[in-house]
Amino acid sequence: MARLQLILSVLCVCVSVCVCKRVMYGQVQSPLYPKPYPADVHQQWDLEVPHGYQLQITFNYLDIEPSFNCYYDSLTVLHGKKVLGKFCGPNSTDSYHPGNKPILSPSNRLQLVFVTDESNTEKHQYLGFSAFYQAVDIDECSSPDLDDSESRCSQICLNTLGSYLCACYHGYQLSADQRTCVLECAGGVFTEPEGFLSSPGFPNAAPLGVNCLYSVSVQPGFQVTLNFSDNFHIEQIDAQGPSCLFHWLKVSVPGEAPKKLCGDKSPGIIHTGSHVVDLEFHTDRHGQSGGFSLRYTTQRVECKIEGGMRNGRITPNFPKYSYRDYIQVRCNTGYKLMMGENEIKSYKSMCQENGRWHLPLPECRIIDCGEPKSLLNGGYQFLSGSNNEYRSVVQYHCNKPFYSFAKANEVNLTCAADRKWRGLENVITPYCFPVCGRPVVDLSSRGRVFGGDIAKNNSFPWQVFLHAGGRGGAIVIGEKWLLTAAHNLEKVKHSKDEVKAYVGSNRVSDYFGSSTKADPVLFQSLPIESLHIHPQYKSPDFNNDIALIKLASSITFNARVMPVCLPEQDSKLENFGWVSGFGLTETYNTANHLRYIRLPIVDQQVCHSSIEKAREVHSDISTLTENMFCAGLPEGGKDTCQGDSGSGFVMKNNDVFYAAGIVSWGVDCGTPGRYGVYTRIARYANWINKTMEEN
Ligand SMILES: *[C@@H]1O[C@H](CO)[C@@H](O)[C@H](O)[C@H]1NC(C)=O
Ligand SMILES: *[C@@H]1O[C@H](CO)[C@@H](O)[C@H](O)[C@H]1NC(C)=O
Ligand SMILES: *[C@@H]1O[C@H](CO)[C@@H](O)[C@H](O)[C@H]1NC(C)=O
Ligand SMILES: *[C@@H]1O[C@H](CO)[C@@H](O)[C@H](O)[C@H]1NC(C)=O
Ligand SMILES: *[C@@H]1O[C@H](CO)[C@@H](O)[C@H](O)[C@H]1NC(C)=O
Repeated sequence: MARLQLILSVLCVCVSVCVCKRVMYGQVQSPLYPKPYPADVHQQWDLEVPHGYQLQITFNYLDIEPSFNCYYDSLTVLHGKKVLGKFCGPNSTDSYHPGNKPILSPSNRLQLVFVTDESNTEKHQYLGFSAFYQAVDIDECSSPDLDDSESRCSQICLNTLGSYLCACYHGYQLSADQRTCVLECAGGVFTEPEGFLSSPGFPNAAPLGVNCLYSVSVQPGFQVTLNFSDNFHIEQIDAQGPSCLFHWLKVSVPGEAPKKLCGDKSPGIIHTGSHVVDLEFHTDRHGQSGGFSLRYTTQRVECKIEGGMRNGRITPNFPKYSYRDYIQVRCNTGYKLMMGENEIKSYKSMCQENGRWHLPLPECRIIDCGEPKSLLNGGYQFLSGSNNEYRSVVQYHCNKPFYSFAKANEVNLTCAADRKWRGLENVITPYCFPVCGRPVVDLSSRGRVFGGDIAKNNSFPWQVFLHAGGRGGAIVIGEKWLLTAAHNLEKVKHSKDEVKAYVGSNRVSDYFGSSTKADPVLFQSLPIESLHIHPQYKSPDFNNDIALIKLASSITFNARVMPVCLPEQDSKLENFGWVSGFGLTETYNTANHLRYIRLPIVDQQVCHSSIEKAREVHSDISTLTENMFCAGLPEGGKDTCQGDSGSGFVMKNNDVFYAAGIVSWGVDCGTPGRYGVYTRIARYANWINKTMEEN
């Protein structure tokens, strides 16, 4: 008993050896070890290794005086107040001996208390002990008795060296204490082109008091479509105003008012039209919401073509066009591409990420051919169409009866796709040709054989009153051409200014009288450009007595002025014709009225004999050649050969007057057996044609 008290008292005064430095391992030995330990020892060791580890001690040697219950000498291993072992004895097989079996502290601490009594009863000297301690990793996860249960993982525990980590099941999230798992909430950012998201714990009821943010953000040019599953329930409180009061799923798209969803009906499919969609799932601390789940997909942004392309085609032809699609626009035939008010050659555009075409869509506008060309001596009118647009038809006509087209009565031109006015196939420039030999007043059925008759207005519209050093006549054969006798121009051939030619009236007084002053334009002298005497004409001989006068400007034909037709080269004469002139009267120089006379053609042989007879008297007379013909009556008549030189002898064929002869010369006019001689125009048709073409 005294011994026990001693121990207790010793316990109170003992020195404790603190190995407070936290080390991973260490060694402890009895005093004086490996020499025998002294008596009266009371020594304590506080061993400690770092937190998160357990301290394990292994005795590599223990030799302490044995006694029952290690009553005298002992080494006690303590953890706090708990005795883990009390050891003594030298025999490792003894129950008081720890052997080399390690002792594990439940924590990172351990105390050793070594006590010896005053003396060794035996002779044997005991050496004490030597131990090695080390830190060993705690398997916190499987250890059932960690000090504080609050530090336990709520779901998965992962042991690590000196510590442990907590983890959570799928759908849960480790909360800030690093131990507790809570339902996953912040859904995060979804960038994949399609995906799935749901309320925390779905299909289980949603946790209360959460505000979960999800953001679907895919690349621009794509649009997100949400497809909610049928299993949808978010508490809906019926109240005034917005009903998603306490629980809601808010869907927000940039630039649009957010939409709050709740209730138990699945919203189904929502086309957000945006590549960024924010979802906020909110519950307060009360009520109940089943939650939601949705699958989202993305579609390329669509570029619309409002109303299609009128009068044009879009290629390629897709039912719809999406981001990065290219299109071309072509207009239908007869239409042109217009960008605003500018015509463009071609159009190509790409669907942009904002759903707009990178160029605004063009327009196909109908083309136009411009104002049709005006037609000299004619005109046009629209048969169909307007504004000179594609497929408009204009009909050209010539001013009848003085002008006509070469073949048709009218010419139809259509505005073609090449913006030209075209005939059936070709681009045609209509031209109005003068109508020849069809006077509006036809005297051919009348006219006396004898003597001259005053010609009615407009009955010989080709008649020209010529003044070239003296009075003469000529005939109109084209818009710019007059035909006359060469001998008329003999005296003035080097000065065309002395040649005056007048048309349009049957009265000389109209050209020189008071009415000229009244209407100077109408009866002005025609502007003369050039004179063309037949090259084989040799004065005073009347052979080739033919000449052309070219006018400086065209005559516009009408009832008063009109050309006479020309015969074919070397064509035959009719039996009779009409000669007109201002000189068919006795008072040649003062005659005012145009007169005419109808005369038969005289047989060439008969005329030849007549002239030869005259030559017997007047040897200077010309001979009759094949370039001449005679007309007149065998019995004579005072007016038959006295037309103005250069005036026309016209004949009629198929209701058309043509110029058969030019008044040229004669012998003993009016005498029986004497005839008027005319230049035979048919002999000069080619020359006339050639001269006109070349000048
Ligand atoms: C140790 O103890 C065993 C039995 O307890 C005994 O057989 C043995 O001889 C002892 N050894 C020593 C060295 O005392
Ligand atoms: C929406 O999802 C359902 C099933 O989840 C599916 O049958 C349906 O085809 C989807 N609708 C669209 C437009 O993707
Ligand atoms: C011009 O068009 C009119 C109306 O269609 C038609 O009657 C006429 O025959 C056409 N003329 C010609 C020369 O084609
Ligand atoms: C013929 O024309 C003249 C003008 O040159 C005119 O004064 C006259 O009245 C016309 N005669 C007839 C019958 O029309
Ligand atoms: C001249 O003759 C040719 C051939 O006959 C014809 O084509 C042309 O139109 C004529 N020229 C004139 C000015 O009459």
